[in-house]
Amino acid sequence: MPIVTSKEMFNKAYEGGYAIGAFNVNNMEIIQGITEAAAEVRSPLILQVSAGARKYAKHVYLMKLIEAAVEDTGLPICVHLDHGADFEICRSCIDGGFTSVMIDGSSRSFEDNIKLTKQVVDYAHDRGVVVEGELGRLEGVEDEVKVSAEDSSYTDPSQVEEFVKRTGVDSLAIAIGTSHGAYKFKPGQKPQLRFDILREVEKRLPGFPIVLHGASSVLPEYVDIVNKYGGNMPGAVGIPEEMLRQAAKMAVCKINIDSDLRLGFTAAVRKHLAENPSHFDPREYLKPARETIKEVVRRKIVSVLGSDNKA
Ligand code: G3H
Ligand code: 13P
Ligand code: ZN
Repeated sequence: MPIVTSKEMFNKAYEGGYAIGAFNVNNMEIIQGITEAAAEVRSPLILQVSAGARKYAKHVYLMKLIEAAVEDTGLPICVHLDHGADFEICRSCIDGGFTSVMIDGSSRSFEDNIKLTKQVVDYAHDRGVVVEGELGRLEGVEDEVKVSAEDSSYTDPSQVEEFVKRTGVDSLAIAIGTSHGAYKFKPGQKPQLRFDILREVEKRLPGFPIVLHGASSVLPEYVDIVNKYGGNMPGAVGIPEEMLRQAAKMAVCKINIDSDLRLGFTAAVRKHLAENPSHFDPREYLKPARETIKEVVRRKIVSVLGSDNKA
């Protein structure tokens, strides 16, 4: 099975009322944990790489590790650029073997976003690569960009048909109240998503795949482990799993998860080192970290996304 685009995955997910997990990858243990879990439950996968991940690990290392995972598991895997900020990074990833890119023009004006997104779509489609665009701004931290609550905005459903038609994008990320990072709601605030916006978008774009960013649940059991073993993450809270399940049954075909992986990985390393203070072989603490990534991803696929047995 070669590296694939998300086209067929999204068609089947839309029809079947489930979503594909798009997991951020930064190193070998994360890639192995995700792909081993997906292989066990026979789920298709999107592995996504941010600009920060490319800076940290280098494009070629991540690409080769993902190729190894495809060979090892035989799974259909799509390799996606997460939050491409400009045409250049999209071009570089397309030329470097990615099968999908996101061009994130959400901080630009509607017209500038359309212009930039269309430029990427033209380049990508000529080379058999699919493109995700974004309308509406999510609050939170991504690499070097921090979007404050005041600068975030829900997607305006009245803009989506024109955006999709004029750009030719293959999927669309929308803002309905999710946000990046581990602190998605303020203390005492009731977690809420704007399902009314999602329903309206779904009505205006029948059959079209929608993407949710900032969709980690910030699993409390791992926050507790981090806090128990020397960490300090008071008030970390994410999107309730039942809300994500509901979205996956609707037009949402791609659900982005990074923070839950970071949290699980860090919880396992902290616990292992606290319990084994004399250990200094990285394999000793990276092994439970990889195992925890596997547990997190298996749980997401089976209990939230519903993509098990769909590969
Ligand atoms: O949406 C952002 C992802 O969590 C990637 O984060 O830019 O720090 O690699 P990063
Ligand atoms: P989380 O921070 O909720 O995991 O979101 C990740 C994401 O949207 C990557 O693009
Ligand atoms: Zn994102």
